[in-house]
Amino acid sequence: MSAREVVLGIGGGIAAYKSCELLRRLQDAGFGVTVIPTPSSLHFVGKATWEALSGRAVTTTVWERVDEVRHVHLAKVSEFNIIAPATADLIARIAHGRADDLLTNTLLASKAPTLIVPAMHPAMWANKATQSNVSLLRDRGYVVMEPDHGRLTGSDIGVGRFPETSHIVATFKEMTDKANDLSGIKVLVTAGGTREMIDPIRFIGNNSSGRQGFAIAKAAMRRGAEVTLVLANSTLPDLPGITTVRVTSADQMFAEVHSRFALCDVIAMSAAVADARPAQYSDSKIKKGSLSSIELTANKDIIASVAKDKKNQVVIAFAAETTLDIEEGERKLLAKSADILFLNDVSGSEIFGSDETQGVILTSQVSQSIERVMVDRISKDTLADLLLDQALNKLG
Ligand code: CTP
Repeated sequence: MSAREVVLGIGGGIAAYKSCELLRRLQDAGFGVTVIPTPSSLHFVGKATWEALSGRAVTTTVWERVDEVRHVHLAKVSEFNIIAPATADLIARIAHGRADDLLTNTLLASKAPTLIVPAMHPAMWANKATQSNVSLLRDRGYVVMEPDHGRLTGSDIGVGRFPETSHIVATFKEMTDKANDLSGIKVLVTAGGTREMIDPIRFIGNNSSGRQGFAIAKAAMRRGAEVTLVLANSTLPDLPGITTVRVTSADQMFAEVHSRFALCDVIAMSAAVADARPAQYSDSKIKKGSLSSIELTANKDIIASVAKDKKNQVVIAFAAETTLDIEEGERKLLAKSADILFLNDVSGSEIFGSDETQGVILTSQVSQSIERVMVDRISKDTLADLLLDQALNKLG
């Protein structure tokens, strides 16, 4: 077997024929590829083609070569999985943990990073069921490519086309190159928005969904880091492979970060921390007649307090502003002893809860100057990788 083993899963869509070329290009890139077609995909490209091209045995169900227990064996030896094309049905089956053919059994048994390349009719891609399955898979750490826009099999035009082979190979290479570059690195991430309780019913909170920090935690895990996520009031799920610590208030978050900071190599402080809490917490509900004002007391600045004593840790902070005030971002970078700060303009409420973001990455340089990199509408997953790339640079 070659150094980097890959499972190439083929779904039952017409784009299956394009994956013959993809298989060749993956082999050219030095991967040893085992093809697992779904039974229905054999209507488009037969077993003999895959066996001839891959030079390996090809089976589609768990009832063939039973002595090898192929799904468990392939899940163990494969370092990466790539599913191309992924039909709406295959995406739904993976999202729901189904195991009704060899491919879905193998994926369920696999811990390897997986790239999913969808291809289907635009209406099927746009359908809420498919979109919700895709976000579920992304939340679980799968990389799901966006299909291309263009002419489909029939006369329809829209988003759903199988991406160009070169684009798929480049995305896959990016994933595999980064797969272990953070191995041995401990990454501490905070995410979500803290809640400062006023009484048992009411709290001071904010709009943060936790998505950016979640994206950093997932990317760091995918890249081999040991990840702890301190998550405040988020509905996002616990992820296998990430230690998730759930907190409510800024004080609780401070305690969790403080006790872990000395042992981490990188901290990404993406949580939206309330700057103040009610001076008095009322054990019983405050009646509306007495609720004309709330006296506040300041919370500690978590990142500034821990980062001022940093040793070799790389500190990534965030700043959410309603105008893209770069000078203010630079001031915060220095005030919080951060090495990297992502400044985003959250006006218009397009960023909170969205999968996309935009802003400026500010990075402190050895020369004391601050480098500015403008980031224009990218996914929070892509930003996560960019920030981790910068952190890795700083770690040397
Ligand atoms: N932060 C923190 N502790 C706080 C407040 C903020 O660690 N009590 C962190 C945030 O997680 C973020 C960075 O500091 O990484 C900047 O947060 P931001 O709310 O933009 O800045 P503030 O310092 O709160 O300043 P202001 O509210 O005046 O803009």
